[in-house]
Amino acid sequence: MTAAERAREWLSSAKSIAVLTGAGISAESGIPTFRDQWGRSPDRPPLWNQFRPEDLATPQAFARDPKFVWEWYDWRRSLIAKAEPNAGHLALAELERRKPNFTLITQNVDGLHDRAGSTHVLKVHGDIWTLRCTLCSHERHDPRPSLPELPPKCNCGAIERPGVVWFGENLPPEIWAQAEQAAEAAGVFLVVGTSALVYPAAGLVHLAKASGAKVVEVNPAETPVSGMVDFSWRAAAAEALPQLL
Ligand code: OAD
Repeated sequence: MTAAERAREWLSSAKSIAVLTGAGISAESGIPTFRDQWGRSPDRPPLWNQFRPEDLATPQAFARDPKFVWEWYDWRRSLIAKAEPNAGHLALAELERRKPNFTLITQNVDGLHDRAGSTHVLKVHGDIWTLRCTLCSHERHDPRPSLPELPPKCNCGAIERPGVVWFGENLPPEIWAQAEQAAEAAGVFLVVGTSALVYPAAGLVHLAKASGAKVVEVNPAETPVSGMVDFSWRAAAAEALPQLL
């Protein structure tokens, strides 16, 4: 039996499954990752090779220059709007339909899991299509790829911010608590397309392992968790995930 076949058996007999995805699952949809030891292409370099996170993804950067930060998010929204979910996203949506006890946790803000048909996605880093008022905290969904005014404004008059988690900010506590519970309860934990460098999200892999899950990693490159998982599958998500079904 190959390792992939064994992983498929683990999944089919698991009473509960949790999945953690990162930017790599959307790579084959044409969305750049943040940092990448694999698949680097001149037309799609990783974001943190082109930009400095501290200029764009921190509360301080936003306080300094909200328009500049918004222009970057608006550019990303327009890229994502043109992209389609790939076979990896679709396979996870199918797994949710087949398995009663299934939790999808994503670090991605792109919304491609929703568009692929996943109905319950724990977005631990927020959602780029959500806008949140900096004054009254009102949140709204805005699907327009390009916003007419930057920064956008709330009905109360204050400016809005992207509904994402920036460096130095806490993860949404309720969503995070559900993610931890799912990792603890999982019989199989899949970790897909993440460099596993950003905490606390990456800590879910360790939590799942320590709680007894079989952990399967899908990533074309080695990561800091490759050595501790039960099977590290060096493959692209769109290729490997359909084979796990
Ligand atoms: P990274 O960009 O850090 O890592 C992407 C991972 O995907 C790398 O390990 C690649 O090897 C892998 N990869 C590339 N192509 C792939 C493919 N086709 N199939 C599967 N894997 C592939 O992305 P994340 O780990 O998601 O946070 O980054 C974590 C967080 O850092 C992000 O959520 C974001 C970022 O700064 C915030 O903005 C708070």
